[in-house]
Amino acid sequence: MKLNIAVLPGDGIGPEIMPQALHVLDAVAKKFNHEFTYHEAICGAHAIDAVGDPFPDETFKTCMDADAVLFAAVGDPRFDNNPTLKVRPETGLLAMRKKLGLFANVRPVATFNCLLHKSPLKEELIKGADFVVIRELTGGMYFGEKYQDDEKAYDTDIYHRSEIERILKVAFEFAERRNHHLTVVDKANVLASSRLWRQVAKEMEPKYPDVNVDYMFIDNCSMRVLTEPRFFDVIVTENTFGDILTDETSAITGSMGLQPSASLGEHTPLFEPVHGSWPQAAGKNLANPLAQILSAAMMLEHFGLNKEGALIREACDQSLEQNVRTPEIQVEGGKHYGTKEVGEWIVNYIENK
Ligand code: IPM
Ligand code: MN
Repeated sequence: MKLNIAVLPGDGIGPEIMPQALHVLDAVAKKFNHEFTYHEAICGAHAIDAVGDPFPDETFKTCMDADAVLFAAVGDPRFDNNPTLKVRPETGLLAMRKKLGLFANVRPVATFNCLLHKSPLKEELIKGADFVVIRELTGGMYFGEKYQDDEKAYDTDIYHRSEIERILKVAFEFAERRNHHLTVVDKANVLASSRLWRQVAKEMEPKYPDVNVDYMFIDNCSMRVLTEPRFFDVIVTENTFGDILTDETSAITGSMGLQPSASLGEHTPLFEPVHGSWPQAAGKNLANPLAQILSAAMMLEHFGLNKEGALIREACDQSLEQNVRTPEIQVEGGKHYGTKEVGEWIVNYIENK
C-alpha cells in the first residue's frame, strides 16, 4: 500500500519521539512491501516563531493532501502564563481539528500486564480493563461563542443535533464492533446541551438493537472509571468532559507516555499521542516514544493494515516485558534506556521477526 503521511512533530519532545515512529514505519514498510512517504510540516510554537501562525496554511494544505496526519504535540511554557495572548500553540491544534473536521477523538484505555503495578490503582482492580473513550472534538465550549473583558467572561457550551448524531453514530458503531456496551456520559441533570445529547442518544438506540446503552453523569463516571474500570466498553462524551476524563483514565495505564489516539472526521484522519509536549524533557532523550509509535500502529490499522499494526504492538509489548523502558516506567536499578534506544530496540525487533 502507498501512504502519503503528513508528519507534524510540533514542539517539546515532539521532534524526538516522531523520528522513532518514522523508523518503525520504515521497518514495517520494508517488511510488508509498502511505500510510506513523509511530508513534514510545522505547527505549534515552532510555527508561531517561524511565521506567526501555529497552524499555517501551508501545513493545512500538506495535511489535506495527505492520506493521514501523524502528529506529536504542541505547547511551550513561554505562552502559558500570559492570559492576554490570543495566538498560542494550542490555538493551532484547535484550528487543525476544526479545519480537518476531526470531530471524533478515539482514545483507547488498555493496560499492559507488566505495568499493572505502575498504576496508582490496585492491580486487581485494573487487570483486564479495556475500553475506549470517544470524545467529541470540534464542538462544545471549546468552539462556542466566547467573550472576555475585565469583569465578565463566558464560553458557550453549544451543540447542534447534527454534531451529536454524527459522534454518537461513531460511538454506536464502535460498540457494535467491540463488546456491545455504550455509556453515554453527560451532565443532563444540569446542562441543556447534555439533555439534547441524551434525547438524541435515546432516539438512536433502536437502530442499534445489539448495543446495551447506559447513561451516566460525568461526575459519577469520573469515579467509576477508577473504582470499576472493567465495567466500561465504549464511553462517548462531549469535548470538555472527554478532555478531562482521558487525562484521568491515563492513570489506569500507568504512564501518559503509553497512550495513542486517533482523530477521525471529514478530512484527513490524524493520529497522535494523548500526552502533551513535555517541554521540561525536550532534548534530553527521556521521553517515552511508545505513545507515538502506537499512534502509528493505529494509523496503519485505520487503513486495514492489521498485521502490521499487530506487529508494532507486539514489539512495544515486548520492549516493556523485557524492561527496555524509559525512566518513568523503568524497574528499580534497571538499565537506562532513552527515547532513541527504545525506538531502536523496537525497530530491531520488527526487522528480526
Ligand atoms: C488534548 C489537549 C488539548 C485539548 C489542549 C492542548 C488544547 O489537552 O488533546 O487533550 O484540550 O484538547
Ligand atoms: Mn487534554
